[in-house]
Amino acid sequence: MKNIVTCENICKSYSVPQADDLVVLKDINWEMQTGKLVAICGQSGCGKSTFMNILGLLDRQSSGKLIIDGVTFESTRDNKLLATYRAQKIGFIFQQHHLLPELTALQNVMAAQLIRGKNQTDAKRDAEFILEKLFHKEEIASGVYNRHPGKMSGGQCQRVAIARALVGTPPLVLADEPTGNLDENTSKQVFDLFLGLQKELGISVVMVTHNPNQAAQADLSYFICNQTIERYE
Ligand SMILES: Nc1ncnc2c1ncn2[C@@H]1O[C@H](COP(=O)(O)OP(=O)(O)OP(=O)(O)O)[C@@H](O)[C@H]1O
Ligand SMILES: [Mg+2]
Repeated sequence: MKNIVTCENICKSYSVPQADDLVVLKDINWEMQTGKLVAICGQSGCGKSTFMNILGLLDRQSSGKLIIDGVTFESTRDNKLLATYRAQKIGFIFQQHHLLPELTALQNVMAAQLIRGKNQTDAKRDAEFILEKLFHKEEIASGVYNRHPGKMSGGQCQRVAIARALVGTPPLVLADEPTGNLDENTSKQVFDLFLGLQKELGISVVMVTHNPNQAAQADLSYFICNQTIERYE
């Protein structure tokens, strides 16, 4: 089966003023098959977000090669090229929803497709298609699509954020503690919807989680420790 992500000898260190560089990731050789849900675990500060930021082209590896969906990223610093690729091919879900407060739920999801060059009609159709899978009929009837993030619950905002990441079924979705900000019950409900949709659409997802139940539901789990990434057997 095809790989959606391949890492070859990826290293990442941060320069620290008046001290040695902080090495966070060392010679990471890692690959992930298309269509899988992969969990990344590990203690606070071990480098999970650093790894996700590299996979998402938000930060650059210090050395090594990253291949996403057949495209190789080495040490290119062409930020415009990276931003374009990111907008077209990668969906992000963060612990905080990061929705745009001045846009409604529907507009927030449509925005992802408009950036990709879709017209208003197609972007609206794509956004409604995905939102309908994440919201109950009663919520939709009560006009949730036209509400701004400030007037939605935490779980509703996070579902909109998930819709924004999955709309248009991008080849890769990166989720950094996607339900980390929600209470236990809401977290479970939102995660179950997310998992169902990931399976239905066959999207490749890398997910950081501190939640063992969520990690257990992934196809494969890894942990980062001592600058390397290892498989949980
Ligand atoms: N921009 C930066 N400059 C310098 N050091 C950084 C930077 N970003 C992260 N670090 C350091 O790199 C290490 C890894 O951080 P990272 O955010 O990847 O951890 P994490 O595994 O995501 O932790 P958490 O579970 O708390 O979110 C930490 O020691 C952190 O202080
Ligand atoms: Mg983190």
